[in-house]
Amino acid sequence: MKSFVISLCTGAALALTGFAAVAQDTAAADGQAVETADDGPQTSDFRTFAPTQLEWERFRAAGEITHEGGEAVYNAVCAGCHMPEGGGAVGAGAYPALAENDLLADPSYPIYLVVAGQKAMPPFGNLLDDQQIADVVNYIRSHFGNAFIEEYGEATAAQVKETRP
Ligand code: HEC
Repeated sequence: MKSFVISLCTGAALALTGFAAVAQDTAAADGQAVETADDGPQTSDFRTFAPTQLEWERFRAAGEITHEGGEAVYNAVCAGCHMPEGGGAVGAGAYPALAENDLLADPSYPIYLVVAGQKAMPPFGNLLDDQQIADVVNYIRSHFGNAFIEEYGEATAAQVKETRP
């Protein structure tokens, strides 16, 4: 759980850093002086604004999970709750073990859960793209004592797309 909290914080910090960079770019593009360490930001320097479409996209992009491949996505997103070896945990909440879990045999259930969430499991449909979700689902279906791909087939990006609401 701790590492999940940390990775969430890192995500937020990255998002904020991205936002600050956008704000500074805009100031520089407007020909305004960019702040130096000496004179610090003044409240009068902050514009009251609705972000432009471009700024909004860049802000959102800064917070996206860009890891590629099932293992990287698992470690970045899922391991905090389900633990690095998929053993699950009981602490502030109960996180089911993914290790040796027959519910992962058919890919549709794990795909659905990652897209839509369920009870204390948050939805990741807006944070991960189709391929990332297919990859992480295949990763948990073929690790931690699970070996379902050969018999039940791979989860595909197309299948994830169909699952999205
Ligand atoms: C914030 C903690 C948290 C994170 C992060 C998380 N999960 Fe979960 N997950 C849960 C909880 C809690 C449940 C039990 C949901 C329920 O009660 O139905 C669960 C259930 C599941 C199940 C169903 C297990 C079963 O036996 O029914 C799967 C599969 C799963 N998660 C996969 C993932 C994957 C893959 C990721 C990463 C993309 C992930 N989870 C990220 C908390 C989390």
